[in-house]
Order: sequence, then C-alpha cells, then structure tokens
Amino acid sequence: MVGNPDNRRVRLFLDAVRAAGLPAPHVVPWHTVAAGAPFGFPAGSLVRIDSPGEDPEVDRLLRGAAEPARHGEIIGLRSWYHGFNRALARVADTAARDGATLLHDPAEIAVLFDKSRCHARLSAAGVAVPPVLPVQEFDTAVELDVRQAAGQEFGRVEGRPRGSVAGPHAAGAWAALRAAMRDVGWHRVFVKTRHGSSSSGVLAVQVAGARCQAVTSVELAADGLFNSLRVRTYTAERDVAAIVERLAPEGLHVERWFPKVGFGGRTIDLRVLVIGGRPAHTVVRASRHPMTNLHLGGVRGDLAAVRAAAGPHWSAAMDSCAAAAACFPGSPHVGVDLMFGPGWRRHAIAEVNAFGDLLPNLLHDGRDAYAAQLAALALAGAAPQPAAPPCSGGAQRLAAAGSAGDTITACAPHHVRCGHITGGVTAAAMDSANRSAVAPGREGDR
Ligand SMILES: Nc1ncnc2c1ncn2[C@@H]1O[C@H](COP(=O)(O)OP(=O)(O)O)[C@@H](O)[C@H]1O
Ligand SMILES: [Mg+2]
Repeated sequence: MVGNPDNRRVRLFLDAVRAAGLPAPHVVPWHTVAAGAPFGFPAGSLVRIDSPGEDPEVDRLLRGAAEPARHGEIIGLRSWYHGFNRALARVADTAARDGATLLHDPAEIAVLFDKSRCHARLSAAGVAVPPVLPVQEFDTAVELDVRQAAGQEFGRVEGRPRGSVAGPHAAGAWAALRAAMRDVGWHRVFVKTRHGSSSSGVLAVQVAGARCQAVTSVELAADGLFNSLRVRTYTAERDVAAIVERLAPEGLHVERWFPKVGFGGRTIDLRVLVIGGRPAHTVVRASRHPMTNLHLGGVRGDLAAVRAAAGPHWSAAMDSCAAAAACFPGSPHVGVDLMFGPGWRRHAIAEVNAFGDLLPNLLHDGRDAYAAQLAALALAGAAPQPAAPPCSGGAQRLAAAGSAGDTITACAPHHVRCGHITGGVTAAAMDSANRSAVAPGREGDR
C-alpha cells in the first residue's frame, strides 16, 4: 500500500489484514513518492492507495515548498493538488513498470480531490447535487489543473466546471460572488476551496440586503488564513470579503446552500461509505453548525432513528450514494457526504471523498470498514478470502471504544489549529472543548 506509515489509517488497515490472516503488505511511504526517491512494488502485487494527509513533511513536499506550513495555515492548496497529481503519476508509472495492479484509478482520485470536477461529474450523471452558482466570468477564469507528465493527464476536465473562481479574479472575487448571487436570487451559498477537505476553507454564506454573514472554521489573521476547530461567524462584510479573496487564488467552488434536516436539535448529514458499489458503513453527523465535520464538534447521531425518520425516502438516498459511487468505477470505495432536506423527501450529495473510509470502530455486517474492503476484494476474486469475523450480527453498530462506545474518533487534520487539542481527539471531547457560541435559531440549517 501507499500511505503515511505512522498514520492510523495505515495501522488500522494493517490490523485488518493481519486479522484476516493475510500476509503483511509492503508499505510505500508517501514521503518517498513525494520526495522523488526510488521505490518499487512486488511484481504481481495489488496496490492500495491511502491518504497522504496529516503529515506536515509530505504536505510540504507535495506543495513544493521550502518550509512546512505554519500550524493550521491554509496555504498552497492548488500547489498541493498539482504535487499530489504528480505523486499519483509516479505511483501509476511504478506499478506499470513493476507489473503491479493499482486497486484505485489515480485519475479518479484526482477528480475526487477537485470539488468542481467531482460536482460536474456527478451532475452530468444525474446524481442529486446542489446547483453551482452560474457565473460566466468564473467559468472563464478557471485555470485547469492539468498535468501531462508521464504521458498521463490526471487533471483532465470533463466539460467546464462551473462555479469555480480562480486566481486572476481574486481581487474581485467577493464582488463577483455577491453580484452572481443577486443575479440568480440566491441568499445562501456554500463557498468551498476546490482542493480542500475537512471543511478547510469552507464558508456558509448568507446575504440579506446590505448585510452578510459567513459561518466558517477559517480564522482570519493578519498574517494569513488558518483552520480552527472553533466555528465562528463573521458579520463584517470586509472580513468575509477578505477571506474569500485570500482563498480565491486556490480555486473556489460555490454551491447553493442545501437546507439540511434537523434532528434532535442539531443539523445532520451522513457519511456513507460505499464499498464495491454498495452503501455500507454509515455515520450520522450531527452538529450545531452548518458544517457537520466531526472534528468541528459534530457528534455521531443515532443511525437507526434517522433511518426510521427518513422512512420511505431512505432507499432513494442510498440509491443516490450508489449512483455517486458508480461515477467512480475505478475506486473500490468512496465516502459520500449525503444531506437530507427538511421533511426527508429531498436529498443531495455534498461531496464524494476518495479516502472517506476512516471510520474507526464502526461495524457493518460485523466488519469494520477495512475488513469489509478486504472481504469485497476477495469476493471480486482479487485477494484470498479473509476469515469472517466472529461478531456478525447484520446490524451496524459501534464496537465499544474504551469507556465511550458512543464516540467516533474524529480526525483532526494536521493543518487544524485548535489551541490545546492538536492530535486526533474524540468528537465528544472536541464538542465540549470547542463548541461555538453560534447556534441555529431553528432546527436544521434552514
Ligand atoms: N451545498 C451545501 N449545502 C449545505 N451544506 C453543505 C453544502 N455543501 C457542504 N455542506 C456541509 O459542509 C460540510 C463540508 O462540506 P464538504 O463538501 O463535505 O467539504 P469537506 O471536504 O470540507 O468535508 C459538510 O458537513 C456538509 O454538511
Ligand atoms: Mg466532507
């Protein structure tokens, strides 16, 4: 596998491999790939690609920067994306040279790390997604993330992604955004960095006449933008404009705000891990903020209760998750962020993640996310059949994790700055330590 060897993603996958009685995989560090150092794969091997995230040195190498980013700083997302594409190309070339088979199509990973292209692909396939802000000037400003090294174009764009703001228009980005919102009559949008994850550079923006408000985990500092664990609300237009214009050179993706259903006094959405085309491990993420990411204080909600509340609408939403995954047939698993609207009748997909499978201690049909992937691989005839785990109950449940069987361990990206909490912490711990004073006036984020 290719991964960051010290990261728990790799540890948990190796644990699952061991538990299945399979031989320990050879791990190629992303650091080696990103540094341009030589590496190889055993002939005939299957290669799993895992996240390069949560490693400041790998991040520095992928950005091609001289210095690591300052703690929490939002910097060089576009450079990172180019570097990641180059690293993926090295992995693909090496696999071809050594006669190894990639389990993931790197070109699909490249699309999944570009929210505009991912959205365009889902939309073209008729998958329910929030509409993007139709801004002609933004379309023409798109600088395509094309790389052609190694004879491969991982950055190729299908169609023209709309709703993307690129560098040249950065200075006027906020004004253009407001004008475009006015033109189409939208008062609420989600502004996202194209290559961001974990809510990095995501703003939930509302305008009303001359007033505006942005809810975000972005901290606007004199010396830059930083990810914070504290979700805050900016109400001064100059602050919102400053954030948008500083983010714009990294590429922005702007969508209409899809009102999310409220449940138990919180706004919810779901992370649905689709393995081998079938929706499997599912987590309800419940938050007091419009962003439900667990490291921002989101907590796990009651899946059975949500499913019951969704009633007849549940299966259509699962079909959408499967349809979203089907847009990425070369990806053995994807993590789909699914939103239900108030009343459950409508749903939309916020994004699809290439590495959305870090769901520690969550069982589905008695298997955790990694064991389930190994089983799916075996069924596909690509790997030896792993032994079935002893605890198979059909229903999804959490394995007791220490004293808090009800907590999912949230993954705080290394680039989040958060006062005292810097590593992976439990969602519950984050919730109490970092709860924002901002609370929605009504249930959900209508
Ligand atoms: N169009 C939208 N309308 C309402 N909420 C959204 C929308 N897009 C994203 N969100 C919320 O914002 C959060 C982060 O957005 P997402 O697209 O998943 O990016 P990230 O890669 O940062 O996780 C999610 O929790 C999701 O619920
Ligand atoms: Mg997400």
